[in-house]
Amino acid sequence: MANTINSVYSLVLERELDKLHQETGIASLSYLGSQVSRGIAEVRRAYLVKSLRSGTTFVDYGDVRNRIAYLYKFAMFHTAIAEYLFTFLYNTSVLFQETIIKRSSTLKICSIGGGPGSEMFGIILALQKLFPPDTIHATVIDICEAWKETFYFLLIVLEAQLKDLDFKRKSLVCEDLFNRVWSYEIEEEITSADIVTMMKFVSTIAWDEQMCEHVLMRIFQLMKFGSFVVYIENAGGQSFNIVSKMASRCGLREVIQPVIGKRFKSSLKTFGILSEIQRHVGSGPLKSTTVSFAVWQNIGSESLSRQTQQRNPCYGSNSLSRMMIRQDSCSSLDDIDLRPQQSTSYNINTIINSDDEDDESLESLEVMLIRSTTYPMYKRSNFQKSLVERVSQQIWQYCTII
Ligand SMILES: C[S@@+](CC[C@H](N)C(=O)[O-])C[C@H]1O[C@@H](n2cnc3c(N)ncnc32)[C@H](O)[C@@H]1O
Repeated sequence: MANTINSVYSLVLERELDKLHQETGIASLSYLGSQVSRGIAEVRRAYLVKSLRSGTTFVDYGDVRNRIAYLYKFAMFHTAIAEYLFTFLYNTSVLFQETIIKRSSTLKICSIGGGPGSEMFGIILALQKLFPPDTIHATVIDICEAWKETFYFLLIVLEAQLKDLDFKRKSLVCEDLFNRVWSYEIEEEITSADIVTMMKFVSTIAWDEQMCEHVLMRIFQLMKFGSFVVYIENAGGQSFNIVSKMASRCGLREVIQPVIGKRFKSSLKTFGILSEIQRHVGSGPLKSTTVSFAVWQNIGSESLSRQTQQRNPCYGSNSLSRMMIRQDSCSSLDDIDLRPQQSTSYNINTIINSDDEDDESLESLEVMLIRSTTYPMYKRSNFQKSLVERVSQQIWQYCTII
């Protein structure tokens, strides 16, 4: 649906150009063009191989020039690629197809590092042709709050253009996923999603391999039973290896044979405002890219917890039920080291045995330990939530190593 992509992004870009005009107070298109060129240079710099390796990948999308640059150069093409690959996935995997059909009353999609909603838009276009859900929960999680307005506007335009498209909820939750503690909202969004997408996100955090693994592990552990991760990424670099290692460590199973290094050429035409921009910046949107594509499904906390218990003899059900955190033993949450460890001598001093089976924290911890996603978050205090989540991750890490 190349026309829809062009027309929706044209309206989104017009709105952003208006903002740039308001901010600068200068209406001349050639001046605005020079500002957009600066944005393009900044965005390109951030996603050069050199930057992806060194970690200088942050782009301030609060700067309207950078938003325009990203939307114009990359987002449109990413939408077209996501539409194509989602269609391919639906037509290739019966399992995936059946799930989409089953969840068609409300399909919940959560795009991690989703920016302006590029891949969300592509998936929605594909769904419209394949099996349109009655309603959609569309969530983006991103470090840049400034994408919020752009994302909401894009969905509103899309809703106006596609008949029968109905969003039950639109939400952009702002979070730096490198943060030690994630908000309750982030956890809820990931936990409730039927489809978690990561398009060209992992490459922006893979420079810190240890943290990247940790972020992915947290995402995969939060995902509910039966949900899918749709991964689309630059073909080069180490991102795919990291994601696939963490997926298998978290017990996710491959849904299709990963597609490594597929070349895409853009067939999007520039007209209207897009060709105006092109005239003033002297270059068009991205013409080709090579991506890798993989999809995993969370096949369940139950089987993983069984694996975990088998690997660790102290995980017999009796000792498990006696494990708890003595909250007074942690003077601060920072006492707990969250970094994934490589060694078998992992420090779990904060976890002790206790006979106090009535303690409420014991119950929460147990539930987290078996990675149940059914225990209602709202029943836990904030302290319990973060403590239990952190310690359970430590234990899980420990158990998968031994
Ligand atoms: C290359 S863009 C990809 C956007 C979109 N998925 C697409 O394919 O067009 C990477 C996105 O990840 C976000 N991002 C980078 N580091 C992040 C972090 N630590 N936490 C959350 N989001 C992050 C950026 O703000 C940006 O929107």
